[in-house]
Amino acid sequence: MSSVNSEVDSTLRPSMSGNESPPEIRVPHHVAIIMDGNARWAEKNGLTVSQGHRAGYDNIEPVTRALAKRGVKEATLFAFSTENWDRPSEEVEAIMELAKEAVGAGVKRFHTQGVKLRHVGYEKRLPAEIIANIKKAEELTSENNRFALNFAFDYGGRHEIVNAIRQIVSEGVCPDEIDEGLVAGHLFTSGIPDPDMIIRTGGEYRISNFMIWQSAYSEFYSSPQMWPDFGEHEVDEAIRAYSHRQRRFGRRPDSRS
Ligand code: FPP
Repeated sequence: MSSVNSEVDSTLRPSMSGNESPPEIRVPHHVAIIMDGNARWAEKNGLTVSQGHRAGYDNIEPVTRALAKRGVKEATLFAFSTENWDRPSEEVEAIMELAKEAVGAGVKRFHTQGVKLRHVGYEKRLPAEIIANIKKAEELTSENNRFALNFAFDYGGRHEIVNAIRQIVSEGVCPDEIDEGLVAGHLFTSGIPDPDMIIRTGGEYRISNFMIWQSAYSEFYSSPQMWPDFGEHEVDEAIRAYSHRQRRFGRRPDSRS
């Protein structure tokens, strides 16, 4: 990654005339992305599905950089779901190889750019080498504060909630003491703010078991681009769309914008 700049990109500001001050562009703090379309992209380009995932993997760094440059502070990427284990073994192995790279050689690049890395998801089914390297990467980057990048890997929202309930029950918590904060604190995303916007690439409109608790009030954005083709221009389009949304959180428009 060549540069991660937290300043808002001037290209996002609509052009001005005279002495008008620039209209405010509201940039989401936390963007979560369902990186869909790798296989379709591969097919379109005469490549294998595994090559499609490689292209998707290679797109993570430039998109992270583009988000950071525009003032986004945190991103969560859906890289492998609890259901993806059922895909052909060759495909699962190809994604595991990419994961090994991400938490191995890939970590240094993010660390030198001040990116804090975190895994959200189930640990026990992942290869021991990946788990060990996740721990090392999280520890190494824990003090970084320019950008937070979370990898949802072997992640499923329903499983996450069941896991939280199991933990709460095993702690012997009295039912009256269970509230939303307690549940949120037992999710894999504990301590991570809810996503302001969820982007799904690949043109479909499903949440696919991704952050189903955390997305209660997230703005949903679907991009027609397949994930490997989702670039700076698409990042700008998504942020612009977010900026025009009125977030009401179930209230009247004038009580919270
Ligand atoms: C969806 O495309 C994408 C996935 C299931 C995996 C996403 C993985 C990566 C971007 C690369 C791996 C990243 C890491 C960090 C290890 P799809 O195969 O469902 O595409 P389709 O919708 O065209 O079928």
